[in-house]
Amino acid sequence: MVKGINFVQVPTSLLAMVDAAIGGKTGVNHPQGKNLIGAFHQPRLVLIDPDILQTLAAREFRAGMAEVIKYGIIWDAELFAQMENNKNLSQLGYIKSELMDFILTCSCQAKADVVSKDEKEAGLRAILNYGHTIGHAVESLTGYTQVIHGEAVAIGMVAAGQIAMELGMWTKQDTQRQDALIQKAGLPTKLPDSLDINTIADTLQTDKKVKDGKVRFILPTQIGNVEIIDKIPTEILCKVLSAMRTTA
Ligand SMILES: NC(=O)c1ccc[n+]([C@@H]2O[C@H](COP(=O)([O-])OP(=O)(O)OC[C@H]3O[C@@H](n4cnc5c(N)ncnc54)[C@H](O)[C@@H]3O)[C@@H](O)[C@H]2O)c1
Ligand SMILES: [Zn+2]
Repeated sequence: MVKGINFVQVPTSLLAMVDAAIGGKTGVNHPQGKNLIGAFHQPRLVLIDPDILQTLAAREFRAGMAEVIKYGIIWDAELFAQMENNKNLSQLGYIKSELMDFILTCSCQAKADVVSKDEKEAGLRAILNYGHTIGHAVESLTGYTQVIHGEAVAIGMVAAGQIAMELGMWTKQDTQRQDALIQKAGLPTKLPDSLDINTIADTLQTDKKVKDGKVRFILPTQIGNVEIIDKIPTEILCKVLSAMRTTA
């Protein structure tokens, strides 16, 4: 028996268009963590009108671009390359409508591909959390206001890239390509000064994705591919986070 009501998603932010509206995850935040209470229920239809993005605040647009860059890293190297070719990605006005359509199509396709292979988050779907492990910690420790979701994901992707490089999983060149694209989208690459490294490390332990005390990381191996790694040495984590402070 299928429970729940039929519903249609009409996303109006870039983030909702490329991510939240697709995949059937419905969740609410709890004082103990983001999206801690939720269920899986698919919409009947997702209706996207790119023109509506014209009124979206630039900061919110950039936050959505973080999720788009995520798809480039975890799934779609062509999407990544097309974005790299564009001079500036920080505002809708700098992006031709053909490229914007391509970005929306590839992003929705990437999310739909991953979700349709793993609707209930048994395995593959975890790759959508690329950048979100540290991202969620940054978001919650800054009270969900100082750093917005997409900005936190950008910081988390930079951290994941650095960790992967430390572990010898991906190249310095790809790390630089990723970080340059994040900067091109006007997104942050450094941790807020107010955050303490040890507090971030402790917060990672309370993330809902923690299994048997091991913090799960999604780490890149090349542009378009990531791996799920269950144990990251604390020394590497702290080294990377320390280097990401603006005062480092
Ligand atoms: N369920 C999921 O799988 C999933 C995935 C990604 C993100 N999320 C969650 O979604 C939330 C973020 O969603 P969001 O970015 O849509 O936030 P939001 O709905 O709060 O929108 C951000 C701001 O932009 C305004 N706005 C939206 N569309 C506009 C438009 N076209 N013109 C002018 N203003 C507009 C809103 O009023 C709001 O002030 C986060 O809490 C995030 O964690 C969920
Ligand atoms: Zn997200």
